[in-house]
Amino acid sequence: MPNVIVTTRDGAERTLAADPGLSLMEAIRDAGLDELLALCGGCCSCATCHVKIDPAFIGLLPPISEDENDLLDSSEHRDETSRLSCQISMAAELDGLRVAIAPED
Ligand code: FES
Repeated sequence: MPNVIVTTRDGAERTLAADPGLSLMEAIRDAGLDELLALCGGCCSCATCHVKIDPAFIGLLPPISEDENDLLDSSEHRDETSRLSCQISMAAELDGLRVAIAPED
């Protein structure tokens, strides 16, 4: 099962095991990290699951969709490492993925 290292807003690191097939958002939420609000439940309509991806892993992720791109534009904290975690499906090749929960908008 792939491991994900999550940095929370206070800078603490937490390693969690993510079931392949779950979204990154679901894996973070299921681990009890409540900083990630994920208000829309993964429908790509709220942007409260915003995370920053370690640049070493960005090339392994699926391309960003138009909807995800538009939603990320609504965040003042967006940068080139930003993704919506509900749009990332966990898979074995993402083992060791490092992400940081983005600041709250
Ligand atoms: S959970 Fe709402 S956009 Fe990801």
